Amino acid sequence: MSFLVVKNYRQLVLRVGLYLLAAAGLYFLGFHLPNQARAPAAPPPAPMTEADPRFWQERFPDQTASYLRTSEMEPTVAGGSVPYQKLTKYPFMRTMYHGFGFWFDFRESRGHMFSAEDTLISGRGKIGGVCWACKSADYPALVARYGQREFDTMFWSEAARKATHPVSCIDCHDPASPTFALRLTRPWLEEAIVAQGRQIGDFDMRSLTCAQCHSEYYFRGAGTENKVIFPWSKGFRADDALAQYDAIKFSDWVHPRTDAGVLKVQHPEFEFFQGSVHARQGLTCADCHMPRVTNAAGRQYTQHWLTSPLKHMEASCQRCHSDLAATRRQVETIQTDLRTQANQVGTELATAIDALRDVRRNPAADRTIVAEAQKLHREAQFLLDWFLVENSTGFHNAAEGRRVIEAAQQLTTRMMETTRRVVR
Ligand code: HEC
Ligand code: HEC
Ligand code: HEC
Ligand code: HEC
Repeated sequence: MSFLVVKNYRQLVLRVGLYLLAAAGLYFLGFHLPNQARAPAAPPPAPMTEADPRFWQERFPDQTASYLRTSEMEPTVAGGSVPYQKLTKYPFMRTMYHGFGFWFDFRESRGHMFSAEDTLISGRGKIGGVCWACKSADYPALVARYGQREFDTMFWSEAARKATHPVSCIDCHDPASPTFALRLTRPWLEEAIVAQGRQIGDFDMRSLTCAQCHSEYYFRGAGTENKVIFPWSKGFRADDALAQYDAIKFSDWVHPRTDAGVLKVQHPEFEFFQGSVHARQGLTCADCHMPRVTNAAGRQYTQHWLTSPLKHMEASCQRCHSDLAATRRQVETIQTDLRTQANQVGTELATAIDALRDVRRNPAADRTIVAEAQKLHREAQFLLDWFLVENSTGFHNAAEGRRVIEAAQQLTTRMMETTRRVVR
């Protein structure tokens, strides 16, 4: 260990400097992930139980083979399954998410077959076993075995040894049913619909199965209970969720630059889709993401390759849209326009956040006006984030996307104006 011996102060300073430089280099590398993420270490093979998609291969070959295709990685213009680092592509997000896990690591997600593995390699902190609630088909059985609260609050690493399979068949199908009927396995979905004064039967199972995971949520009793709740009591829009969070005074974290209590939205696909052009046509998630197709023997089955429908528009869109090339251009125009608008608002919001940081510590700052600006930060960020993390880049409901971004724009402008009044 002779390289550890330091003979004098000069060497000590050089040595420490060298280590710091090396640490900074590693840190920098971690932040500036190339658009293709680091190759993850292969996790140990998961045991073959009914939670494993391959378990059903013999009985349901077509459904299983198509489901296994969710491990393919192929990009589309706006979506796709290549896990690029969003923080590098959209630098304003680093300001928005400062102080929270997403500030550190926010990669585009991949397909269902990677859901367990991507949870293992994500650089974000984990609150407990509950993180497996939408990542692993083992979750319902583990809850049955250990108890809801016990498993949800179990150390994440401990729970990670038990939840080994990705999202799979039994998350949506009853393994004991002779017809492999659809079922719901996440109780908070029905709880949230009931809290809104509606019933599960008001919705279609071909969307509800997805809504179990593709919805915004928060944890009640973080650390002690970790109960998943969908904030739907006031409705499905971003504004409704925010109203519920305001009513219970909930924040995910305090933003270190503005000191505002802020929120992180997560994948509100189900909510955002409500009231859209296609929802009004009576379409469900499965209509576009799981079209009926024909196998080599001429038999129809439901394709289970859950991915961007732009990869199979003939099966998903053609029955209503005859000119597919034009329809694709229309999708991409919506996505590009909304993305451009959102990036602009995001950049303005980042500027407003830094402006508030700069004035709020001034001894002459008017506390009441600071509080007003902080509230506007919370609201603007929530509405913008709703668009940013909804995974269709606005396609699922273009009109709602436009509305939410414009509302975020107005709130950001008001935040900036209010910030200018903090110190007279
Ligand atoms: C995310 C939810 C989900 C997952 C996961 C899932 N399915 Fe399905 N499955 C559906 C939906 C939705 C339908 C269409 C049901 C309908 O239209 O009534 C379906 C239909 C089926 C059917 C009925 C026959 C058909 O083709 O329409 C079978 C069999 C089936 N799935 C097998 C599987 C198998 C095997 C797996 C795992 C490899 C699996 N499913 C994973 C949601 C899911
Ligand atoms: C048990 C939870 C769960 C259910 C149920 C579920 N999903 Fe997912 N879904 C996920 C997770 C987690 C990811 C991200 C995986 C990753 O990051 O590796 C994902 C990713 C996706 C993707 C993105 C794939 C890509 O290549 O980028 C699509 C599309 C998708 N899901 C559609 C659906 C649809 C449609 C349904 C209902 C039929 C559904 N999902 C049901 C958890 C779920
Ligand atoms: C009218 C067809 C349609 C319906 C209905 C629909 N989607 Fe989509 N979905 C799309 C299209 C198109 C995209 C954009 C794909 C892209 O950008 O490549 C998309 C994107 C997604 C993505 C991101 C995929 C990716 O490649 O990153 C997820 C996740 C998703 N949808 C889930 C859902 C859920 C959940 C529902 C039901 C609440 C739903 N979708 C309803 C057409 C549809
Ligand atoms: C059941 C029929 C049906 C299916 C299936 C369907 N659409 Fe549509 N779509 C419609 C109707 C109806 C409209 C509204 C037309 C109008 O108002 O001019 C529409 C509008 C659109 C628009 C205009 C955008 C908007 O939000 O106003 C786009 C883009 C689009 N569809 C893309 C798709 C894609 C991509 C798919 C397949 C993944 C698809 N549609 C599947 C019926 C359908």
